[in-house]
Amino acid sequence: MPIDAKLLERAYQSGTLEGLPDGHFIDGRFQPAQAGGRMESFDPGRAEPFATFAAGDAADVDQAVASARGAFEDVWRDTAPEARGRVLMRTAELIRANVSRLAVAETLDSGKPVGEAQGDVLGAARTFEYYAGACDKLQGDTFPLGPDHLGYSFNEPVGVTAHIIPWNFPISTTARGIAPALAAGCTAVVKPAEQTPFTALMLAELLSEAGLPPGACNVVTGTGQDVGAPLVAHADVDHVTFTGSVATGTGVMKAVADNVTSLVLELGGKSPVVVLSDCDREAALDGVMGAIFENAGQICSAGSRLVIERAIHDDFVDTLCQRTGALSIGHGLRDPQLGPVNSDRQLETVSGFVDRGRERGATVLTGGAATTDPQTGKGWFYEPTIIADRPVDDELVQEEIFGPVLTIQIAEDAEDAVRLANATRYALVAGVYTRDFEAAHQLARRIDAGQVYINEYFAGGIAVPFGGNRMSGFGREKGLEGIRSYCRTKSVAARIAR
Ligand code: NAI
Ligand code: MG
Repeated sequence: MPIDAKLLERAYQSGTLEGLPDGHFIDGRFQPAQAGGRMESFDPGRAEPFATFAAGDAADVDQAVASARGAFEDVWRDTAPEARGRVLMRTAELIRANVSRLAVAETLDSGKPVGEAQGDVLGAARTFEYYAGACDKLQGDTFPLGPDHLGYSFNEPVGVTAHIIPWNFPISTTARGIAPALAAGCTAVVKPAEQTPFTALMLAELLSEAGLPPGACNVVTGTGQDVGAPLVAHADVDHVTFTGSVATGTGVMKAVADNVTSLVLELGGKSPVVVLSDCDREAALDGVMGAIFENAGQICSAGSRLVIERAIHDDFVDTLCQRTGALSIGHGLRDPQLGPVNSDRQLETVSGFVDRGRERGATVLTGGAATTDPQTGKGWFYEPTIIADRPVDDELVQEEIFGPVLTIQIAEDAEDAVRLANATRYALVAGVYTRDFEAAHQLARRIDAGQVYINEYFAGGIAVPFGGNRMSGFGREKGLEGIRSYCRTKSVAARIAR
């Protein structure tokens, strides 16, 4: 499904996209913030604002939650499962039909290369398709209580769900939250990141076009402070799914405690890519590059540590550095191999990590500086960067940088690789490259992570559960397991003998 070349060119030339949504999406329609607030969204590829959107507050949140409550109680909870499934399936089709507009909006807002944005949009369509098929298969259970009793259970939707979305995968993260929630019969209020509000709004409009009743999916835009905080602390929200930083996530955990609201936290990572000496070298090189340079490294599950066996280190790293230095950099709408980082703040964060590392004596093998789009001299770019072997307690090994910066760790053997892989407080994903089937599955068992990729980093898709351990969070999204957060079990036990 190619991107509409005319639309792409017009967006690049004009620096914006016509007909972007204007306002929150509440009760099935776009509406301004009650207090009239507006904010600018920036195009990171040019470091310039390209559109404005509604900056909401607690009053807008109240209205959206009330709308979601009404839609839950009056309509969606009791809509036949197969009818819910048809709405989700039509949504998948509408997303595909609008792939060009959605991808261009995602690129303008987030900065990511448009080919990656297109992949995210098609992934969102696939997410709706997957959960469409699950709506009428949420079966309950029966319990063996003997001849005098009957015991059974069924799944109830938890109710009104809140979704706090980060700026790195705006449409993907929105889809993976609301598709299973709506499938289960829940309704939703989405709070996109203030850096990237548009595709969540566009998605809500498509859901409505697909037949979702007004109020079943609302989107309130604005800052974390003004919209996110009142939403997660709202007494009438039954469940919160949060994706973002550890600092904000732990704050959300405290905020939901007062109402005993259930929570899924998908936080950061510092994921290892373990490369053993018997690996398929080309597959490993491709995998390591994609793991850290896709979306300029702004991925919770980025492979940001290369844990490589000493025997192949020198030659492998030489090639890796050559290829890294040759990556094309440019505005996302030109579909380069590496786009900008999302904000000036994120650029400062990334630069800070590398500069402090240099002061501690780290060797920067390639990259290591902020830069701009070579065509325009604009934008928030950071060179793709590789840092030579660092001790395990170094900040560059321990902390999530969330940029195109790979840190190397040399392992003596597979055993040592496990030790290094497990040596951070994060445990989101891990990659393993080896031709030894037994070694691969032993590593998969012993590395602490929610998900392990063998011989293809980011392998899998919507069918595979995803989430973290330790500081990377708890709960699982995606897969059939991803629906569980949006269901609760009601069990019934009855005496059936007199
Ligand atoms: P953040 O965690 O503050 O933002 C994520 C979302 O939470 C945004 O929608 C934001 O508006 C919202 N939010 C902020 N404060 C809130 C509050 N008090 N209550 C409810 N919602 C709130 O992350 P930020 O500041 O954008 O990025 C900082 C760092 O976080 C990044 O450098 C990166 O390391 C990490 N990060 C990790 C992500 C992941 O996928 N795990 C995604 C985004 C950022
Ligand atoms: Mg933006």
